[in-house]
Amino acid sequence: MNWMPIIAQSAGDTVWMPTDASTLAESHDPLFYFIYYVSVVAFVVVIGFAVTFAIKYRRRREGERTANIEGNTKLEIAWSLVPALVLVTLFAWGFWGFMESAIPPANALDVRVTAKRWNWEFDYPQAGILGSDELVVPVDQPVKLTMSSLDVIHSFFIPEFRVKRDVLPNRYTVAWFQATKVGDYRLLCAEYCGTEHSRMWARVKVVPRKEYDAWVASGGPLGKIEDPIELGKALFRMRGCAQCHSVDGTATGKAPTLQGKFGSMETLSDGTQVLVDDNYVRESLMSPQAKFVQGWQTAYMPTFRGRFDEKQLNALIEYLKSIGK
Ligand code: CUA
Repeated sequence: MNWMPIIAQSAGDTVWMPTDASTLAESHDPLFYFIYYVSVVAFVVVIGFAVTFAIKYRRRREGERTANIEGNTKLEIAWSLVPALVLVTLFAWGFWGFMESAIPPANALDVRVTAKRWNWEFDYPQAGILGSDELVVPVDQPVKLTMSSLDVIHSFFIPEFRVKRDVLPNRYTVAWFQATKVGDYRLLCAEYCGTEHSRMWARVKVVPRKEYDAWVASGGPLGKIEDPIELGKALFRMRGCAQCHSVDGTATGKAPTLQGKFGSMETLSDGTQVLVDDNYVRESLMSPQAKFVQGWQTAYMPTFRGRFDEKQLNALIEYLKSIGK
């Protein structure tokens, strides 16, 4: 068995860390291993002396008196100064690393991250790509993440990149990374957020620059879909609508089914009736609390204001129409 991964920093996965795949990993890992080795040395020295002294100065017979021992100035200065220097080093190194991870470089690619129970969504304002369910980024390019949540607290965590940051409702948090290795990684949610928390993950694809440019040129995951109903169907899945609304009449217990809804009359919580038409759907998406369907007053739905552009909204409505039949 190869014990090197346990005792030393090595390439690839170790017992302590997954593969390092970002510049932050390259600068943070040495600090981790420094703390690790300081701890190993401190453990060996402290326990070593404790055991040695316990044996050497043990009581050998009844009534034995301890010798009167005076202080040793040199020794006391040494055991104060050396740990103090180690701790100051840890502070300076850690503070430098904290600043590095807290401040995104000016040339970073902007990605907006939206978390909700229970999926992740990525918008690329510079490239005009909305609502990707995969985080696609070019290798060796700083990426700045501006993150918010539509509901509860989530946490953005990519172990290989050494990036972890809370994602909050009603406030933006920022994180950044620069991936150094092409490949697929997993973005995990690291804050318990409900029943599907453990399944709240997204694929992170680090690709060569050319491949990223091609992905952007193709309009991202939705760009290739021409048919409005197909586009609406994809949006319905990617934006997490399907987690609460069924489209086949199944009762989910979380929200009314949308089968046959479009074009029908809906009874609201105050007893009035309303026609489910284009404008009703738009209002329900933008201001979900404006009208409550009878029996669903306490149902939870986040607003999708700004989450769909006009073309996508139209496609979603066409899809809703199609599941009525
Ligand atoms: Cu989102 Cu846990």
